[in-house]
Amino acid sequence: MGSRKRSVPDRVNVLLIGGGGREHALAWKLKQSKRLGTLWATGTKNPGIAGLARACEEPANKRERFRLQQFCKKEQIGLVVVGPEDVLAEGIGDWLATDETVVFGPTLEGTRIESDKAWAKKMMRAASVATAEGRVFRDAEGAKEYLLTRDEAQVVKASGLAGGKGVFVAGSQEEALAAVDTIMVEGAFGDAGNEIIIEERIKGEEASVFALVDGRNILVLDSCKDHKRLGDGDAGPNTGGMGAFCPTPAVDAKTLDTVQREIIVAIVDAMRRDGIEYRGVLYAGLMLTPGGPKVLEFNARFGDPECQCLVHRIKGDLVELLYATATGRLDTVDCDWDRRAVCCVVLASRGYPEAPEKGAVITGIEAAEAMGGVRVYHAGTRRGTNCGKIKVDGGRVLNVVAQGDSIEAARDRAYAACELIEYEGKILRTDIAEKAMKGAKAV
Ligand code: AMP
Ligand code: GLY
Repeated sequence: MGSRKRSVPDRVNVLLIGGGGREHALAWKLKQSKRLGTLWATGTKNPGIAGLARACEEPANKRERFRLQQFCKKEQIGLVVVGPEDVLAEGIGDWLATDETVVFGPTLEGTRIESDKAWAKKMMRAASVATAEGRVFRDAEGAKEYLLTRDEAQVVKASGLAGGKGVFVAGSQEEALAAVDTIMVEGAFGDAGNEIIIEERIKGEEASVFALVDGRNILVLDSCKDHKRLGDGDAGPNTGGMGAFCPTPAVDAKTLDTVQREIIVAIVDAMRRDGIEYRGVLYAGLMLTPGGPKVLEFNARFGDPECQCLVHRIKGDLVELLYATATGRLDTVDCDWDRRAVCCVVLASRGYPEAPEKGAVITGIEAAEAMGGVRVYHAGTRRGTNCGKIKVDGGRVLNVVAQGDSIEAARDRAYAACELIEYEGKILRTDIAEKAMKGAKAV
């Protein structure tokens, strides 16, 4: 069911799941496909997505799965593109896939590479994938005893999905012990914290590499650099990501080759040996250490905001590419690449990430997009019900994406566009891509 090899049909109705900036970018790229029939989306409260897709009002959850199943049947959905990890971790890749409808995104088992970090660690070990040394604990006492035997800095992680908040990079033994309490005793992340991983803190530059995987064939897309901290110079709390650029010169051709062979191919093969045909996008979060790239985490989806950059590097047809990935035929599609560099700056709202302000009216989006080579994706916005104006409705508000012949050109253009957009409480980092751009050329 749903996994038989089949060629990409001439016309495909597509259902996109998710409602953030990542999905707006995917919708924009899907919309350009010559194979697209009707584009439907669950996330049309996002005004950007609403402008591109018809609204699917059915919920994407397992309990009411029959509703989405009926919808796909009625509207003859050929391809479902899943953005967020929580929906994948509900097994949508299993319960929505039929002979007629293929799902881009791994099955429940494959999604464990992101949703069960203890299992992912075990798979990495089995595949000899370089990663931080770590141990898994199911009880707080055992975890604390272990911590007391460690002198070097440790990182404490909830094993399950914790919305990007379950990782504690401890500055001291006390902080590490407190993290164990937060996760296991106070239960800050519910069942996601029933198991934890304690691992060595590794040093280096961070980067992400994305690959499409069709079970067997692998297409490495690009390397990206995310900026996870809220403030300039990597100060302040961790966020979902304040900006990204692509490709990152930190991942040179040799490193990319190592990542492909020793990390991506190795883990996909290990999963296959375990009976899992991984299909979808595989996101390797890496630390580039002096000893080579090491995996910090794998994710089973596109990064946000990295995806907003990646779609601009793909010149090919996204429906074709994602359909081929979901059906094990990646070897049959050709994809051209736009070699220009891409930079994405996130405009957030004052108070993000703890308590972002909402409600301010946003102006200047059209002016920003009127600049050549600029796209603005909606992340946390809403269209006002009475006035029809676009308003702030979340922490990460807009993603301003620009392309250029160098990272510097892309960055300058993105920041010039950011200046045209205004709302009360606008915040942004001013140093996205700054470290990389000195002398770096797009590759
Ligand atoms: P993760 O969600 O596992 O990528 O972790 C979130 C962030 O925590 C990463 O982007 C890193 O900055 C940091 N981190 C995670 N694991 C480690 C580690 N073993 N050593 C150093 N930093 C880490
Ligand atoms: N940008 C980080 C993530 O998507 O997890």
